[in-house]
Amino acid sequence: MLDVENVTKEFGATRAVDRVSFAVERPGFIGIIGRSGAGKSTFLRMVNRLTDATTGAIRFRGRDVLALKGAEKRAWQSDCAMIFQQFNLVPRMDVVSNVLHGTLNRRSALATFFNLYPAEDIHRAIDILDRLGIAEQAAKRAEALSGGQQQRVAIARALMQDPQIILADEPIASLDPMNAQVVMDALRRIHEEDGRMVIANLHTLDTARRYCDRVIGMRDGRIVFDGTPEQLTTGVARDIYGADASFSEAATSTSLARLDRPARAKETELL
Ligand SMILES: Nc1ncnc2c1ncn2[C@@H]1O[C@H](COP(=O)(O)OP(=O)(O)OP(=O)(O)O)[C@@H](O)[C@H]1O
Ligand SMILES: [Mg+2]
Repeated sequence: MLDVENVTKEFGATRAVDRVSFAVERPGFIGIIGRSGAGKSTFLRMVNRLTDATTGAIRFRGRDVLALKGAEKRAWQSDCAMIFQQFNLVPRMDVVSNVLHGTLNRRSALATFFNLYPAEDIHRAIDILDRLGIAEQAAKRAEALSGGQQQRVAIARALMQDPQIILADEPIASLDPMNAQVVMDALRRIHEEDGRMVIANLHTLDTARRYCDRVIGMRDGRIVFDGTPEQLTTGVARDIYGADASFSEAATSTSLARLDRPARAKETELL
């Protein structure tokens, strides 16, 4: 499905991503971990074409992603929606309008200018918000919502694009443990129910172990681990994070594990 071959990104003398290669055969839930500066964000940005790779190839269902231009490139960016740590909503705009921004790629400049949306898009936006448990927030300004709610609005905006891949760059890094769990549960559920691939940069080991089918560990721009959560032992983690003997899992851990609701529960009160 997704083939990444020797992808490299240089910023001057810095090699942010260094010959990264991996293949994804089916739409999994993939976590990328590694310490700050390992190249995780740069890698996701290259997949989405927010940043151009220096060398290498990325193919999705045979399509040469790095060669796409113009309308084809925009279509691809719509196909792999991004979610960011800081939500990137328009704070003073209402929730539904923020979600409708996910359709921007296919609207005319004039419709965008006058803020005109087809009724079916508005209904769809509300359905998606409902699915994420935040339909009752639809008319509020984005800035009036909690962090966890705002991130779910960002997920709703991404779903509006009907993406094949969801790229999430530290989606829960700004959230408290409870909201972090709600957001991760939402992503997991979208993955399971819709069959969308999720690639998420995660800053905590416990989250990666708990939600991902596959974990990729990056260090200094390179992949140093690619395996299942079970294979991600403390020793392996120590190698990925490049820590010395004083390495402690607690340092890369939220208190998420202490919440006793099951991670992959089929029913949560919010969804
Ligand atoms: N626009 C840029 N210009 C110059 N250097 C950059 C740029 N973006 C990233 N880098 C460098 O590339 C390397 C990888 O950065 P990147 O942001 O991808 O790391 P990361 O794994 O996402 O880190 P974090 O966990 O802190 O988000 C770092 O050395 C960083 O300083
Ligand atoms: Mg980053």
